[in-house]
Amino acid sequence: MMSRNRTLEGLVRGMPTSDGAGVKLTRVLTQNLQRRLDPFLMLDYFHSDDPNDYIAGFPEHPHRGFETVTYMLAGRMRHRDSAGNEGLLGPGGVQWMTAGKGIQHSEMPEQEAGLMQGFQLWLNLPGKNKLAQPDYQDIQGNAIPETHPADGVKVRVIAGEAFGVTGAKTRPDTEPLFLDAHLQAGKSITLEVPESHNAFLYVWKGEVKVAGNSIPTAHMGVLHNDGDSVTIEAVGDVGILLIAGKPLNEPIVQWGPFVMNTRAEIETAIEDYRNGRIAVA
Ligand code: CO
Repeated sequence: MMSRNRTLEGLVRGMPTSDGAGVKLTRVLTQNLQRRLDPFLMLDYFHSDDPNDYIAGFPEHPHRGFETVTYMLAGRMRHRDSAGNEGLLGPGGVQWMTAGKGIQHSEMPEQEAGLMQGFQLWLNLPGKNKLAQPDYQDIQGNAIPETHPADGVKVRVIAGEAFGVTGAKTRPDTEPLFLDAHLQAGKSITLEVPESHNAFLYVWKGEVKVAGNSIPTAHMGVLHNDGDSVTIEAVGDVGILLIAGKPLNEPIVQWGPFVMNTRAEIETAIEDYRNGRIAVA
């Protein structure tokens, strides 16, 4: 069977914003794309060597109904949560938190100077698991499988499977693929992505081409669901994330850090939070 290569549906440029206690970041995947990119709810990119942009961090706040995935390229962040977990996230490491029925956590920079660079992705949970027990996993950089499918190409498999390599994390229902790929100028990769999976790239360094169309630096390229593989060509030296997942096709109702299926479930979440039923660290 010949595989069919996906084409580029459109480009999205991130919006500068701030979150937490005033951390400057770029919101790449915004609420209006939640349906199109189901099961992904949000993608933030932070990149600054000015401590004023990040030093205030993300103090104590709750989540319910989905998973947060934080991936660091540079810098260090300390995580603490109400389930008693604590971890120090460093370059190349990932923190995978399943908020489930509710967790409160803080994410604070563990540095006072230097570059802080990385991503936070929000991955939805199916309705049947939105009130599951919270879970937390801290995966250090050296525990993330890496593969070199060609000369001048390095792929770090954070979640899912690529080039026969199983990633640090696999998840049921949404079956996420989360890759950090580095390609030297002129190199290309082709990898399988199930046609039903919604998929996008974020280019944080350099420029790539997909089926002849360019995705420049600091842009997300949304891929059409028109094939079971994707070919990515590096124009210069590039750093990209490739993210794909199986859509849940359930209603999405978000209120800040809570993402449920119905308004009534959101009202319950707010009430539970006000009444201290989402535990404090
Ligand atoms: Co959080």
